[in-house]
Amino acid sequence: MTIDSLAIRRRDGVLEVLDQTLLPGEERWVAVRDSATMIMLIQRLSVRGAPLIGVAAALALAVEAENNVGKGALRHKAHELRNARPTAVNLMHAMDRMIRVLGQGKAAIVAEAEAIYDEDVNLCRDMAERAAAFLNEGDGVLTHCNTGGLATAGVGTALGAIRAAWESGKKIHVYVDETRPLLQGARLTAWELAKLGIPHTLICDNMAANLMRSGKVNQVIVGADRIALNGDVANKVGTYGLSVLAHHHKVPFTVVAPSTTLDPDCPSGSEIPIEERNGEEVRAGKAPASVNVWNPAFDVAPRELITRIVLEDRVL
Ligand code: MRU
Repeated sequence: MTIDSLAIRRRDGVLEVLDQTLLPGEERWVAVRDSATMIMLIQRLSVRGAPLIGVAAALALAVEAENNVGKGALRHKAHELRNARPTAVNLMHAMDRMIRVLGQGKAAIVAEAEAIYDEDVNLCRDMAERAAAFLNEGDGVLTHCNTGGLATAGVGTALGAIRAAWESGKKIHVYVDETRPLLQGARLTAWELAKLGIPHTLICDNMAANLMRSGKVNQVIVGADRIALNGDVANKVGTYGLSVLAHHHKVPFTVVAPSTTLDPDCPSGSEIPIEERNGEEVRAGKAPASVNVWNPAFDVAPRELITRIVLEDRVL
């Protein structure tokens, strides 16, 4: 089967990922020949985005199976991959699927990983089309982080919806939050939107309130890393603030996610594990090296501030 997306591909039998830490300056593909390399790439955000890390981890485990690694060792590696990042539940769902087929032999393991890739492409297409219906001609659309082809195996979640609306002929303008501290908006979403030819304007995260008050934003649309049973949504840090702002300014707040992002075992947002990352990401070489930093990678938008959650097959 062909694996060939914006962020992950297989060339001459070798799994490769686009190193997203180098974008937009350089498009460098990195070969992944074992699961330890994939874990390192996931943890340094060379490979990122909730659906993509699940797909990438599954394909990395398939590489190990193709290398004739035994069942016990595969199980161990699957658990290591599963723990590479704590918040996006897509990773856990993908690895649980892989763990269930470990006893069925190499071909079954590879087929399962390819199915996870293929299904994500289809989930993206379906949720993007469904969510695009909520975007209207002339809308100013504010989005956060990167939720496009770089975050999934397909067209993306929220950015996929923006793309589908644009390609259906709706003239929209996208406002891109830069997304501190690692600038997924400035580096990745702006790069994707430029490639797609969709009009956009970059703002610093702390400009969103002012922009909403100006009346230029009619929609806020974001992705998700984990959706709790009660509808609370964990997503890139800053999403909670946007949900408060959207509520205050009476702007619809839409979350677009595949059902692989739902976590029925998690009763509410307060039970979602939130990854805390290195303070150096916030200091960014600018603050005093000794300053104490709090750096949660995600926050939780509470259900009461969310207008709708668009999945591939329904709207909540
Ligand atoms: O830390 P990242 O860059 O992996 O965070 C990604 C996000 O928060 C996205 O918004 C999320 O994964 C949903 S979009 C596919």
